[in-house]
Amino acid sequence: MPGMRWPRVQLFEFNDAHWAPDALREGIVDTLSVALERGRILDGLAAPFAAFLARSGTSEVLDLGAGAGGPMRVLLGALAERGVRPQVTLTDLHPRVEAWRELAGVFPGQVTFEAHPVDATAVPDALAAGKARTIINVLHHFPPPLVARVLADAVRAGDSIFIAEAFGREPSSFPAFASAGLPALLGAPLRGSRRLEKALLFWATPIGFAVSVWDGFVSTLRIHEEAELRALVAPFGQDYDWTFGWYPVKPWGRGCWFSGTPKAPAA
Ligand SMILES: C[S@@+](CC[C@H](N)C(=O)[O-])C[C@H]1O[C@@H](n2cnc3c(N)ncnc32)[C@H](O)[C@@H]1O
Repeated sequence: MPGMRWPRVQLFEFNDAHWAPDALREGIVDTLSVALERGRILDGLAAPFAAFLARSGTSEVLDLGAGAGGPMRVLLGALAERGVRPQVTLTDLHPRVEAWRELAGVFPGQVTFEAHPVDATAVPDALAAGKARTIINVLHHFPPPLVARVLADAVRAGDSIFIAEAFGREPSSFPAFASAGLPALLGAPLRGSRRLEKALLFWATPIGFAVSVWDGFVSTLRIHEEAELRALVAPFGQDYDWTFGWYPVKPWGRGCWFSGTPKAPAA
């Protein structure tokens, strides 16, 4: 519950495991994308994201850990309503080319992708150059030293960075995802490839359901809080403006965001 402090615990998530079957990982990540969109969970993130883009002074975005593209689908739609049309390059350690092609068709000329794996903790300079980096619902996967590496690398390159999570370190807010998450989970075998394997995992057995609930719940305990993020950037982030905020998540949760943009040169 908001107000109560939970210690951060780096518990195991199945979708991080290198041995997790692709059908399971895809099913979980697709479910997240569908739930974020249909549950309108990221609607409240559009305003802080638009403000971040304006601060960053670029209209090019590199999305790290893009998953099935759900966050960018929501954010690009919301920005288009404001007349803002950034160019986005989607990347992930496990690229989702099929889903990204579909998204590129929804936002013609705005969405490209990198078909090879891109590790958010070691982003090639050539790919990142001149782009604002986004990392949405991913940072909690990393322990603090890796988070510091992700943030420090953006600062070294002079790039802006925007982090968001769909909840704080508040396990009690996880059930808020049920109304959007459960229907999305049930539909997993109807989406993308490997449908027979997904039907076995998500329909014929409780494996997909149990793993998704475990990964989602555990994620809430892995969130990095504002004070921890500020402590991580303190050694290298003095030339950046670091901003933290909360956004409302329907029906009764809240998500958080943290951004870094280079300070404007003194007049
Ligand atoms: C919880 S999903 C979030 C996906 C998407 N951003 C969303 O919100 O729907 C986490 C994503 O991070 C990716 N990921 C995990 N470790 C990564 C790493 N080291 N570099 C890049 N992506 C990573 C996973 O493949 C997965 O797609």
